[in-house]
Amino acid sequence: MKYYITTPIFYPNSSPHIGTAYTTVAADTLARYHRLQGDQVHFLTGTDENAQKIVRTAEANNTDPKIYVDGVVERFKELWQALDISNDDFIRTTEERHQVVVQRIFTKLFEQGDIYKSEYSGWYCTPCETFWMENKLINGKCPNADCGREVELLKEESYFFRLSKYQGALLKYIEEHPTFIQPVSRRNEMLRFIEGGLEDLCVSRTTFQWGIKVPFDPKHVVYVWLDALINYISALGYPDGENYKRFWPADVHIMGKDIVRFHAVIWPIILMAIDIPLPKVIYGHGWYLTKDGGKISKSRGNVQDSFALIQRYGSDAIRYFLLREMQAGTDGTYSEDNVVERINSDLANDFGNFVSRSLAMIVKYRDGMIPRPGQDGALELELKALSSEVKKAVDESLRKCDPASALEEIWRFVARCNKYVDETSPWALAKHEEQKERLDTVLYTFAECIRIMAILTAPFMPGLPSKICELLGKDERLIRWEEADQWGIAEAGIKVQKGEPLFPRIDLAQYLTAEETATVDKNLNESPESLQAPEFEFEPIKEEITIDEFAKIDLRVGKVLSAEKVEKTDKLMKLEVEVAGEVRTIVSGIAKHYSPDDLVNQYIVLVANLKPTKLRGITSQGMILAASKGEVLEVITINKKLPGGAQVK
Ligand code: MSP
Repeated sequence: MKYYITTPIFYPNSSPHIGTAYTTVAADTLARYHRLQGDQVHFLTGTDENAQKIVRTAEANNTDPKIYVDGVVERFKELWQALDISNDDFIRTTEERHQVVVQRIFTKLFEQGDIYKSEYSGWYCTPCETFWMENKLINGKCPNADCGREVELLKEESYFFRLSKYQGALLKYIEEHPTFIQPVSRRNEMLRFIEGGLEDLCVSRTTFQWGIKVPFDPKHVVYVWLDALINYISALGYPDGENYKRFWPADVHIMGKDIVRFHAVIWPIILMAIDIPLPKVIYGHGWYLTKDGGKISKSRGNVQDSFALIQRYGSDAIRYFLLREMQAGTDGTYSEDNVVERINSDLANDFGNFVSRSLAMIVKYRDGMIPRPGQDGALELELKALSSEVKKAVDESLRKCDPASALEEIWRFVARCNKYVDETSPWALAKHEEQKERLDTVLYTFAECIRIMAILTAPFMPGLPSKICELLGKDERLIRWEEADQWGIAEAGIKVQKGEPLFPRIDLAQYLTAEETATVDKNLNESPESLQAPEFEFEPIKEEITIDEFAKIDLRVGKVLSAEKVEKTDKLMKLEVEVAGEVRTIVSGIAKHYSPDDLVNQYIVLVANLKPTKLRGITSQGMILAASKGEVLEVITINKKLPGGAQVK
């Protein structure tokens, strides 16, 4: 089957941000999902460059509009690459291939009488690139809920597009096609809007020259929205291109709620007027808002550098966050501490931890070899039934353009897998020779669960499958969607590896200010279940000691002045630590878990009266404290400003 999906084309008047990234990440997820299913996918994104606001911004920057947009367009392309966006094409409306199609359609509409010349007298909001009649303004400003900015009075000769002529046909189409505008709340909004009456739309401007010229009257440039919407077919090579023939009509146009109106009114009417089929679905998602409820947007000055975020947390984690936090039909809240919380709870604690501890057990109990399973028990049958239930639900949610619900379902499976580890207690089975076959079944089931998780998450976090396949000794090309609810695919005898944690826990203090850290800590404390360490085989508690015996251990705060890896080892780090007025050298086995930069200027805890010992020829004058279990290790750090030398008791 063919599948054609588009994002809106973005105004390159400023660099992209994390809010604008949502649409593209969501579209990418759907495109990847359809590719995994074997569909022939075409995924289009691009930039909307012929807007008046581009001219304004370029003027403000003392540069030519084309030079200005060329720079910003590169930022968009870089961001999409950093976020692993798999678009098949990128259209710029300043490209010739687009301009000729716009001119052709404009001329056709004029020739058939759907476009006529008259005079526009009314208002224009440049930030929204929208015409407004006087009676629609609110306190003389732009009535758009998200805008409210100054509008400008226009009085100029213009061409008009007869929207009014198509009002009845459009209403009938929407009524007869209940899934055309989604979700249903936006459909209802649009029906009310159209029933309110459509006025003919001004579709040309004469007061500036940046844009696509009306071919038969070149002092006019085509109104930017008429121009922009046509990108969805110009990029396919309308009317004769192979891609046009193969992919039109679009399966989904996905966009933010603010621009559904243009897609649900102007676009279908253009298509009806030139007599080609309408897109199957127009999907309007919510916005990403900040914690105080404002839309993330450049003009509000609340935009975080998306590149820095991706570098800090990784594309998979940022994609996961964006997709998970935008519930269908509502807005999502973005903040960096929410991102960290999601990473630590969903990705590190639930997903990553299952993968590392189950692989660690295959390594520990079967020397890394996936064993041949015995007979399934009730728990395995339950997992199998759940995997097919979850796959169905994911299919259904993605069909409805709702990645958040799909992820919720997948995490139901992840949670069940973690519970399965606790229920089967492989460490207890390993103690009894007669349980060997049962242990084989459990360990084999672990490998299958990991494989299924890799398939289910592949459309959302495209970096994961290759990492997981490497751990499972499997070829990434063997990841097939239809195998997400099939069992017995993992091959016995294959050697797995423990590997590095897929999602290391983020140490919040490393990135956030003290105030932000306090907020995050508070949030985390409010959901203690997300922090509970998964059960594992614990070392027995040691023999009791008296308080006097404990008092012999002199624990002190130490400030790390410098850190470097010890050459020719992969575990050891050499630290210079300031403690009670002296600088000590300490060698510690933490190099696999921290880079030297992570530790400099941190306040750690050390055993200050431990007899010095030589490690790799270096005398270590103390030992730093760290908590660890399995693959995870965290150095104990002190976040309050206590001096090096302060006592810990
Ligand atoms: N150029 C037009 C679209 C033309 S499509 C034929 C446009 N561009 S835009 O750059 O302003 O916005 C592009 C998309 O980004 C819109 O879908 C908009 O809703 C989305 N978003 C912008 N800020 C957003 C958030 N804070 N959150 C989610 N989406 C947001 O409109």
